[in-house]
Amino acid sequence: MYNIDDIKATLKIRLSKKRFTHSINVADAAVRLAEKWGADKDKAYIAGLVHDICKEIPHQEQLIMARKSGFELTADEEAAPPLYHAPAGAYYARSVLGITDSDILGAIRFHTIGTENMSLLEEVIFLADLISEERDYKDAPKMRRLAFEDKDRAILEALRFQLPDVIGKASYLPAHTVKAYNHYLRIYLQKEDR
Ligand SMILES: [Fe+2]
Ligand SMILES: [Fe+2]
Repeated sequence: MYNIDDIKATLKIRLSKKRFTHSINVADAAVRLAEKWGADKDKAYIAGLVHDICKEIPHQEQLIMARKSGFELTADEEAAPPLYHAPAGAYYARSVLGITDSDILGAIRFHTIGTENMSLLEEVIFLADLISEERDYKDAPKMRRLAFEDKDRAILEALRFQLPDVIGKASYLPAHTVKAYNHYLRIYLQKEDR
């Protein structure tokens, strides 16, 4: 579909060794999750590789790219520089790497903040970023297990962990993350009801 070696060569130039490894690990985790949940494995690998491709350029450059991504940025995102790299990555993927698949672009765009009603591929990349092999936060083993047992629940747990963190830093809550939380909570509660 796309030339993986070319993408990896570009990643090597643009990313530190640590983030290059992270990207490879996310791509590998994404393929395993895609296999489990029935998403496209090739697309998952590419989206995983590319998701952080703009993370190490200046925020100002990221913002310029993010605004050209074709995805609307919410006001809270504009106020949060650490979020720029995701829509910027979607822009880079499309305009430089020639990736036109809207699902891959969406998965890159929403990998940090999530959103409601994510596609399977978007869900896979959101989770793969949290369970990649080098992740060593306290609940990583639990998240790894949950991501393969119940992906909706895993996303909900991730958001329950993510939202207080945003509040703790006195940053704006991304509207997409709030919508994602409500969406995945609804799924969880509906399952509980049955
Ligand atoms: Fe990221
Ligand atoms: Fe990442």
